[in-house]
Amino acid sequence: MPPIHESRIENDVVASRVMTADEAAEFIRPGDNVGMSGFTGAGYPKEVPGALVRRVEDAAKQGERFAVSVWTGASTAPELDGALAAVDAIDMRMPYQSDPVSRAKINAGLLDYLDMHLSHVAQMVWEGAFGHLDVAVIEIAGVTADGELIPSSSVGNNKTWIDVADRVILEVNSWQPAALEGMHDIYYGTALPPNRKPIQIIRPSDRIGVPYFHCPTEKIVAVVETNSPDRNTAFKPVDDNSQRIAENLLEFLAFEVKGGRLPASLLPLQSGVGNIANAVLRGLDGGPFRPLTAYTEVIQDGMLALLKSGTMDTISATAFSLSEEGAADLHANIAQYRDRIILRPQEISNHPEVIRRLGCLAMNGAIEADIYGNVNSTHVMGSSIMNGIGGSGDFARNAYVAMFLTPSTAKNGAISSIVPMVSHVDHTEHDVHVIITEQGVADLRGLAPRRRAQKIIDNCAHPDYQPMLQDYFDRASATAPGKHTPHLIDESLSWHARFLREGTMKLS
Ligand code: COA
Repeated sequence: MPPIHESRIENDVVASRVMTADEAAEFIRPGDNVGMSGFTGAGYPKEVPGALVRRVEDAAKQGERFAVSVWTGASTAPELDGALAAVDAIDMRMPYQSDPVSRAKINAGLLDYLDMHLSHVAQMVWEGAFGHLDVAVIEIAGVTADGELIPSSSVGNNKTWIDVADRVILEVNSWQPAALEGMHDIYYGTALPPNRKPIQIIRPSDRIGVPYFHCPTEKIVAVVETNSPDRNTAFKPVDDNSQRIAENLLEFLAFEVKGGRLPASLLPLQSGVGNIANAVLRGLDGGPFRPLTAYTEVIQDGMLALLKSGTMDTISATAFSLSEEGAADLHANIAQYRDRIILRPQEISNHPEVIRRLGCLAMNGAIEADIYGNVNSTHVMGSSIMNGIGGSGDFARNAYVAMFLTPSTAKNGAISSIVPMVSHVDHTEHDVHVIITEQGVADLRGLAPRRRAQKIIDNCAHPDYQPMLQDYFDRASATAPGKHTPHLIDESLSWHARFLREGTMKLS
């Protein structure tokens, strides 16, 4: 860890609780439910998870098992998810992960994983669906003189963890820019039914809360100082398929604007992360649609670039998800970004009511889509988890236009991403408006199932697989007992099995 030059703790009571990470980890007991900060590689605790791993290893040497349940905002980093999973220290993990070590443990049946809509987490925790939260481990950027906590580069579920946990461990990270102060909008007005009130966000730029987390100082049992960087996601150069998918999407949006179905500045954008999202954001930069806004989950490099160029006005999200260069840019130019970025709790960034009111344009990745428009975002071959549903369902179900983007084939062309019947359903045909591959766009709105099928086969399937899909659809249409959504059940199920049998597909 680089040296800490300057303490960010201005409150004496909080400062009096500073200790080492190993001492702080003593406050976590075997069997505890532990709520950690972290959303993508941003704002996760950098020191306490490693200390917890050391405790787990010490316990193992004494022949004892030490495991906890880990609740977060979303995915974290290898130092948290990967390190704890590697020593079998996690009993139950929720609500999202993307770590290769924990993925392997989950798929081997060694780790219970609860994959859920990110907007549901806070409510279900308040309901008590997961039991009691024993301890929260939260990264923050500083503590004000009157004890308010300045949130870090992600908000996620931190407000909820601090509110419901018995004990709070803070990691005060001076690597995070001090100028993050004031960027957050922490809403304290949520309640369980029947006491709910409308969430008064009418535009992405609206602020309805306060810039700090409140935490009674008596709950703060330990404070650890750190200067360690976020785990930044590497920025890969955009590949050909992603470029073509982005071009198809931009053409679709232009067509919608031309037809008067979308305004010229579009509607608030929600974008997943990764190669395709990068290509889409790059394509929007300097383009005809402006001024853009985003009401989304994470802010990746491409979104910062849109702010910088003036193509985008405001971004509302719950976390940053930046490459090393993106983080350096944010830190160097935070003064010019800070008034146009709002970070909110994920129950608000992903709130169905707000997404529906704003009319978000949702753009998310898919593993596979079937000919009737059902989408699988999470499972390979029906039984192995990849990451999780994340916020894709929160946005797709409530979006003005729900778009799913995927290359038409995976594994170097060995398998079609367009299939007769998805091997796992995350987004039903009712939640999927548009499917886009590098082959083209299938706008499914207003189409009954058989018309959707023909459009998806014609516009989105790879030419290598089109004949097989057409043959399936023709025979299903001719012989299936029901003509509404014709399927050959035996064959639809054996489609995936065939790839496994032929050995063209290796499960990850
Ligand atoms: N069959 C089998 N494997 C497939 C596949 C298919 N049809 N399509 C993709 N995959 C595999 C890829 O081969 C790759 O595996 P590898 O890492 O072992 O090579 C992996 O799935 C990821 O695919 P990739 O092409 O790299 O796409 P991506 O990074 O854009 O991820 C999702 C696609 C669907 C996995 C990702 O978008 C996701 O996790 N979505 C759910 C959460 C979400 O949408 N969040 C955003 C809400 S804000």
